[in-house]
Amino acid sequence: MIKVDISQILGFVSETEVKALEPEVKVAIEKLEKGTGEGSDYIGWMNLASETSPELVSAIKAAAAVLRENCDTVVVAGIGGSYLGAKAVIEAFSNSFSQLIQDKSNPTMLFAGHNISEDYLYELSQYLKGRRFGVINISKSGTTTETALAFRLLKKQCEDQRGKDMARKVIVAITDTSRGAARTCADKEGYTSFIIPDNVGGRYSVLTPVGLLPVAVAGYDIDALLKGAADMEAMTNGNVPFEENISAVYAAARNALYRSGKKIEILVNFQPKLHYFSEWWKQLYGESEGKDNKGIYPSSVDFSTDLHSMGQWIQQGERTIFETVISIDSVKHSVLVPSDEENLDGLNFLAGRHVDEVNKMAELGTQLAHVDGGVPNIRITVPALEEYWLGQLIYFFEKACGISGYLLQVNPFNQPGVEAYKKNMFALLDKPGYEAESAALQARIRK
Ligand code: PA5
Repeated sequence: MIKVDISQILGFVSETEVKALEPEVKVAIEKLEKGTGEGSDYIGWMNLASETSPELVSAIKAAAAVLRENCDTVVVAGIGGSYLGAKAVIEAFSNSFSQLIQDKSNPTMLFAGHNISEDYLYELSQYLKGRRFGVINISKSGTTTETALAFRLLKKQCEDQRGKDMARKVIVAITDTSRGAARTCADKEGYTSFIIPDNVGGRYSVLTPVGLLPVAVAGYDIDALLKGAADMEAMTNGNVPFEENISAVYAAARNALYRSGKKIEILVNFQPKLHYFSEWWKQLYGESEGKDNKGIYPSSVDFSTDLHSMGQWIQQGERTIFETVISIDSVKHSVLVPSDEENLDGLNFLAGRHVDEVNKMAELGTQLAHVDGGVPNIRITVPALEEYWLGQLIYFFEKACGISGYLLQVNPFNQPGVEAYKKNMFALLDKPGYEAESAALQARIRK
């Protein structure tokens, strides 16, 4: 079972303050379940896992099999919600040194289209030279510049290197049913394609083909991922009592802290494989809550690494933060600290103990120190880094995010602020249709 422990926030906000949010949480859940809240045309994610058809899962597995059979490397092109979910799940399960391991049973998974770095794209093209690579092009709008630019380069290299026929076989599109350039291109070229449902926004799309296809190509179990999410769906629905509904408790706890002046939430992990899970979480909460001049600022650290950098700030900096720790109960492998006759490093007191025991004591020691230092601490315990549990964790955070957005009285499903930079970039690049904005910006820059 995934567990949420809020006992270590109770010196900062009272149990009564958390409990006082129960009626608001109830209303928020009702809005999500009845589709009566703001942005309710984007709540398709709520029942995705339980309603994904066996036909869709089979089609995803079949497309994954084609890519696995014909490619040693697969590049996933996408940004934001069309990137972070797949990256988070794949990183969570991959061998830490997978890029360096020669004898592979799974294709190397690479990502592009999430930046506009010329050097990144050059180095990627060099790496791909001579390799049997394929591409998964993911864009809901089908018009995102970063992704479209990378895909244009990848498509050309794939066709040049592998021939048009093979390129058609190993390029897959995941996009809208009918709108956008990615759809036009997929239809014209005859690529295998999957649809991102209209009612699922980018950051809530990891359990659609957007996340499922890359995860299946990488060799991980999408049935278990979906099963975990579907089970969490049942465990967090409106009929579950508040205290037992972990998404409700987490949402109430973080909002009680926010209302008491804790404006920054730091998501903490003690397993480096969760680094990108935190990136996914940051996008989910940042884009969902940060609007109308409101919202908890979501940040993240990888411990114990960052205890040696951000640890100082967290222990003694401005007291406007709280931590949410994802704690993984059991690790996959066993490494015991060896005994050393000379004991030059003085570590014999650890001899015969598991490295994970040291990690767990670092975790507990950090929690005690940070709480003493004025940092409330929420703890989410996950049994293991496995597909089923990650599916649960994904849905747990999505549901809590929807509830939190409504507690804040914002629309958790739009992201109007993301457009501002795009408009300026297009104007500065003289994109047709942006002439007036371009003239205004040029005048501003020349001042
Ligand atoms: O969450 C979102 O909606 C965004 O982060 C999008 O996923 C991101 O901007 C990419 O958009 P698209 O899939 O249309 O290329």
